[in-house]
Amino acid sequence: MELPIPFGWYAVAYSDDLSPGDVQPMYYFDEHMVLFRTDSGKATVMQAHCPHLGAHLGHGGKVTGDRIACPFHAWEFNTQGECVNVPYATSIPKQAQGKQCLYSYPVQERNRMIWAWYHPRQLPPLFDLDDIAELQNPGWSDYDLYEWEINSCIQETGENGVDIAHFVYVHSAREMPKAKISLDKHRRETDMITRGPAIDELGNLDFDKLEDSHLTSKNCGPGMTTQVFSRAFKTIMLGTVIPITSSRLKLRFAFSKPTDISDMFNILTDGMIAEIVRQVQYDIPIWENKVYRESPLLCNGDGPIAKYRQWFSQFYDEPDADIIRSVPFSDNVKTAGRE
Ligand code: FES
Ligand SMILES: [Fe+2]
Repeated sequence: MELPIPFGWYAVAYSDDLSPGDVQPMYYFDEHMVLFRTDSGKATVMQAHCPHLGAHLGHGGKVTGDRIACPFHAWEFNTQGECVNVPYATSIPKQAQGKQCLYSYPVQERNRMIWAWYHPRQLPPLFDLDDIAELQNPGWSDYDLYEWEINSCIQETGENGVDIAHFVYVHSAREMPKAKISLDKHRRETDMITRGPAIDELGNLDFDKLEDSHLTSKNCGPGMTTQVFSRAFKTIMLGTVIPITSSRLKLRFAFSKPTDISDMFNILTDGMIAEIVRQVQYDIPIWENKVYRESPLLCNGDGPIAKYRQWFSQFYDEPDADIIRSVPFSDNVKTAGRE
């Protein structure tokens, strides 16, 4: 059984990777797209193929002011996907006047990334993204980045966070972690608690003194996860997933650290980051080769898998269902653009 692409906000790129005037082809949500930044700084994500004769705007399209010009015959489109100039004609074709010819995705920049809202029926955003407070603070470092492309779907990779038993058998955890999960509309928080030896400021481990170690994961919709670590591990991780197709995805990890921590905490934190990145390689072959069991045979030692699936199911479009808007997008959104 193949799961459809869930709706939500998905990170398409890091903000720093797109300067004014930049144009890039992209393929996500099973669709060819163009990503560009206008001269005034507005990031835009649009369907790629020109309504004229079908050229891909991401391959040779040029930004001129707040428009993108097609590489084939230079028709110009604004950031709403409306044709605003045909340079060699006396008028814009009637059918295109004042109309969107190319779907332009809702876009915003948050947490140093560019996010596009995907909905299979192109409905406007049904919830908003959360800001990560630490990233607004200049005392936190630039991102340390990692990414993978994986043959899986995002419900499956997300389920990893509540699949308690696999931490022992895939990731060599010493014991089954305890997990507390709380669900609130499009948000989900999992607090995973294990016991570890106490660590002092100098990095000495005391195996006679065990203390709680927390890994708190906060999900905001299907595409954004923030992970916070406790004890000596002074990092915050923004994890993002974006569907390329319904069965292939891109996973990105971005770590930031406070710039004023001790050398020892830096070493420990870097070790933790390296370990998290290393552990993903053990998940990938399982994700890529498993099947999706719609009605799995579960036991009482498993984590809250059914609860997670029920929460996740809210992101699958049901054309007839009543839609509850958690946070009105327009009230809270920072639209694309840089200061
Ligand atoms: S194909 Fe784009 S202007 Fe002709
Ligand atoms: Fe895992």
